[in-house]
Amino acid sequence: MICVERTVGLFVLLLFAAACSKNDGQEPSKASDVFEVPAHFPPPVYHVGEVGIGSGGFELGKRLFYDSRLSRDGTISCGSCHAQVHAFADHSSALSVGIDGNISKRNAPALTNLAWYPDFMWDGGINHIEVMPIAPLTDPNEMDNDLSELVNYLQQNTAYPDEFEEVFGSKQIDSQKILLAIAAFQGSIVSYRSKYDDYLTGQSQLSALEMDGKNIFEAQCSSCHSGVLLTDFSFRNNGLDSTFADAGRATITQNEADMGKFKVPSLRNVSLTNPYMHDGRIPTLRQVLDHYSEGIVESKTLDESLRDGLALTEAEKDALVAFLQTLTDYELLGDSRFHEP
Ligand code: HEC
Ligand code: HEC
Repeated sequence: MICVERTVGLFVLLLFAAACSKNDGQEPSKASDVFEVPAHFPPPVYHVGEVGIGSGGFELGKRLFYDSRLSRDGTISCGSCHAQVHAFADHSSALSVGIDGNISKRNAPALTNLAWYPDFMWDGGINHIEVMPIAPLTDPNEMDNDLSELVNYLQQNTAYPDEFEEVFGSKQIDSQKILLAIAAFQGSIVSYRSKYDDYLTGQSQLSALEMDGKNIFEAQCSSCHSGVLLTDFSFRNNGLDSTFADAGRATITQNEADMGKFKVPSLRNVSLTNPYMHDGRIPTLRQVLDHYSEGIVESKTLDESLRDGLALTEAEKDALVAFLQTLTDYELLGDSRFHEP
């Protein structure tokens, strides 16, 4: 089984043994105190039990996620670019600032409902949740660490060996255990308690304006931003450019037909994850709607459904913004289980 399409070849092999177990359609179960599949969600891609490795793995993963000592110079943690108050997106800049003030290539997306993601990154270059953390840990623009040095560091720490023992039954730390624990934490961040969810489960009503927005959304947007996860996980070109500084999906497939295509992002908590698009070029939701309505740029790979623009009236834009705001999950933002320890 292949779990990664780019990043560090050497480590990839080590990971396969215990890790790769995407869901083959069996019913998931409640596997930890933290992760529960919401009743109105489809089954997740990963067997939750194995991603979750119990709540112990979650706690260890949380410590690692927020520990800046995991970066080469001890200054940057996962949480530096993925902040809970912004649904684990980076709100501070279009392109995130990593180690030594280096600028990352793309905008840091929100991290919610990752257990449902078949692919990660804007170009889908990583396709397993447990391999995912290698990229930021080693990327020279993010944390720029070396996995074997990281293992040594954690092994010499006064607290970590005992914590690994609690979860994995041995004080011996290796890169696979580090990745499993981080996967347990990030895979447990589930956003399912927004006003829109309460509407779907019959616990709340939408206002007339929000309802209008929902209807427009279903007609104009949900062919790509579909279902409760608000994405179909396909790769599309939504008309930002005529030539592509970032080849997007084609970086991975080397296929001309994928030039300028990026993963359709989930719109959960979207009112808090600005700036928008793979490079954070659009500051506000209103401007995103202006883009779809009046700003679509022609190119060979532009999605057919957007070729003529979506021609939204100002009133339709108001309604859409009101609907998009119902996707904010305030419970998640304040959920102390995910706070920095
Ligand atoms: C310097 C900022 C920065 C740091 C630190 C960072 N990330 Fe990210 N993260 C990003 C950016 C930028 C992307 C998008 C990269 C891309 O698509 O090429 C991303 C993407 C991701 C994704 C994919 C989300 C999706 O929608 O596909 C996950 C998961 C993730 N990061 C987890 C982590 C974890 C875990 C850590 C710590 C080990 C971490 N990140 C550290 C900036 C950062
Ligand atoms: C043809 C598929 C498609 C349709 C239709 C579509 N989108 Fe998108 N949307 C995308 C893709 C692909 C991206 C990411 C593009 C990129 O960053 O290069 C995106 C990005 C976004 C973003 C930015 C999210 C973020 O986290 O950066 C918002 C907001 C958004 N779309 C809202 C909408 C709304 C509202 C509609 C309907 C008016 C809509 N989209 C219609 C494919 C689509």
